[in-house]
Amino acid sequence: MADARPFHWEFVPEPVTREVFRIEGGVPLRGEVPISGSKNAALKMLAAATLTGERCRFTNVPEIEDVRVMAETLRDLGVVVDHPAPNTYEIASGDVEWLFVPLEAAAKMRASFILLGPLLARFGRVIISNPGGDRIGRRPVDLHVEAMRTLGATIEYRNGYYFATAPGRLRGTEVRFPFVSVMGTENILLAATLADGHTVIRPAAKEPEVDDLILFLQKMGADVERTYEDTIEVRGQRRLRGAEHHVIPDRIEAGTFAVAGAVTGGEVTLTGAPCEHMTAFLEVLDRAGVSARCEGDRIEIDGRGLGDGAFRAVDIRTAAYPGLPTDIQPPTSVLLTQANGDSRVHEAIFEDRLEWLTELNRMGARIDIADNQHATIHGRTPLHGTEAEIGDLRAGASLILAALAADGESTIHGAHHVQRGYENIERKFADLGARIARLEEGTISTTS
Ligand code: UD1
Repeated sequence: MADARPFHWEFVPEPVTREVFRIEGGVPLRGEVPISGSKNAALKMLAAATLTGERCRFTNVPEIEDVRVMAETLRDLGVVVDHPAPNTYEIASGDVEWLFVPLEAAAKMRASFILLGPLLARFGRVIISNPGGDRIGRRPVDLHVEAMRTLGATIEYRNGYYFATAPGRLRGTEVRFPFVSVMGTENILLAATLADGHTVIRPAAKEPEVDDLILFLQKMGADVERTYEDTIEVRGQRRLRGAEHHVIPDRIEAGTFAVAGAVTGGEVTLTGAPCEHMTAFLEVLDRAGVSARCEGDRIEIDGRGLGDGAFRAVDIRTAAYPGLPTDIQPPTSVLLTQANGDSRVHEAIFEDRLEWLTELNRMGARIDIADNQHATIHGRTPLHGTEAEIGDLRAGASLILAALAADGESTIHGAHHVQRGYENIERKFADLGARIARLEEGTISTTS
């Protein structure tokens, strides 16, 4: 029987290998780039595999740091996690030994909190650390906790940990969120698959990664359905079975490479891309004058813009799906530095996701940050190489984009943030002709 593990409060972070990206900008990118599996879908599915003792198999899992952290976290619980081939994971949760998700896991990755739902539903208790993740505002988990309580869980918060119990089974009920939360929806969805009775989740997140999770749960034998656009209904089962699933492609990675093609004035074809999940972003590209042609799972980006390499200014506002994803706002902001005129950016999902724009200003951009949700990008400004520090995943990828578009050399510190969510990013850029290398800090001065 699984047990709660005795734990210690002191947390000493593991040392991170300090690596930098060294980039020589100004090369138009050309060629094809394969899009990897979705980070935000894969992480939830690996967690969902703990809902059953039977073996689950996943393909098209991105080889990224966050997946590695989730795999290690599961192994620490006693789950068998095999990695038989690149991008393939197999998970068997027959003998879960510990019901404890420590701060070590949570501090590295906010998505570790997704283990609350499945572990609580299957084992009736779990101790889980308050999560960390990207430094982009407060990012609380109160919605997850409150919703889990409505399913009958008792949850206490002490010393940075949630102590959750649900003797017997969780009870199906109506869960009403005050506003849409992606992981909140997913946590309740996972818990409800093993709850006693019928659960209605409303408003449920509409993100394609949530639908991919639903598809996987259905393969496991769960009775889950999106009955309306913003409503998911679940009829809880006593047991679920093992299943296989091929993870959907990553629409944020696809958007990042699309911007790379555009800002370098290149021609880049994204292969295996989820065109149907990128409508809002493709509309922004269209309004900006970037040609993006979708054919099946290929998107051809022509970054020649309005003729002189410039684009049109566009006002953007992030929103829950199907709106413009907050994760694609930073790359889009880089594109808008190359647009003629003023573009207004409204970041409506997270606080403090505009702070990194000051780094873009250091590269020659002219951006006024009015408050933590509003900025104006005055274009068009040539960018120049610089030394910059990455603060979070999406801002990090965007600094790389800016450095690729810039004249001269850039050194971008904090490469580990980008490896959390992008598979082989420097190799993919190099294959498109970029002059980019990932180097250990100590070797910077000696390697060109
Ligand atoms: C997920 C994605 C992230 C993406 C975000 C929005 C994963 C692992 N991450 O994050 O890449 O940027 O969706 O599309 O899938 N909130 C609360 N209380 C809560 C939960 C959320 O106040 O309990 C707030 C957040 O601070 C934010 C908003 O709700 O302002 C939306 O956040 P949410 O949709 O929950 O984002 P995540 O699921 O954490």
